[in-house]
Amino acid sequence: MILRQRSECSPFLDRIQHLDRCGFGESAWDHTEWQRLFDSRNLIVVLEFSKNDLIAFAVVCFASGEGELLKIFVPEDNRRRGTGTRLIDKVITELKKEDVQELFLEVRKDNKPAIRFYHAGGFKEVGERRDYYQHPPSDALVFCRDIS
Ligand SMILES: CC(C)(COP(=O)(O)OP(=O)(O)OC[C@H]1O[C@@H](n2cnc3c(N)ncnc32)[C@H](O)[C@@H]1OP(=O)(O)O)[C@@H](O)C(=O)NCCC(=O)NCCS
Repeated sequence: MILRQRSECSPFLDRIQHLDRCGFGESAWDHTEWQRLFDSRNLIVVLEFSKNDLIAFAVVCFASGEGELLKIFVPEDNRRRGTGTRLIDKVITELKKEDVQELFLEVRKDNKPAIRFYHAGGFKEVGERRDYYQHPPSDALVFCRDIS
């Protein structure tokens, strides 16, 4: 399911927040941060369901031909089944409709599974940001995929 507006996203907010906390603990976004994000104009939220249950999500924003993957989460018991890849594919399909040519993201330098996932998905490492994350502190790697 592809969502673009706050009114479409709001019914799923509690479940998305629950998944966010499962995946990102202390660094999960709070209710206000999610609502503020849902108010953004250039937002795409992709949801994945299993038997009517929302099980995974990806959130991306875009502007001036560039997209930024803000968050992607697949619960542990669903990983390595292609769900993350499906989410990214859907994100890219939507971004292409908006004439976006490059998809960027930041990832914790110690998040090896995610880094492998991005490499497998055709993303290239293009930079590093020192002390980018808190809770716990970590540098970030910047990845980019040409989607033109
Ligand atoms: C990163 C994440 C979204 C991947 O989701 P997923 O549904 O497991 O990904 P896929 O099944 O589509 O994996 C595609 C490929 O990526 C690579 N990959 C994914 N997870 C991997 C892992 N733990 N170790 C090694 N390679 C991995 C593999 O090449 C995999 O293909 P294969 O299973 O045929 O070998 C998921 O692990 C996740 O939600 N992690 C926690 C949240 C997070 O870290 N998000 C990113 C923050 S920037």
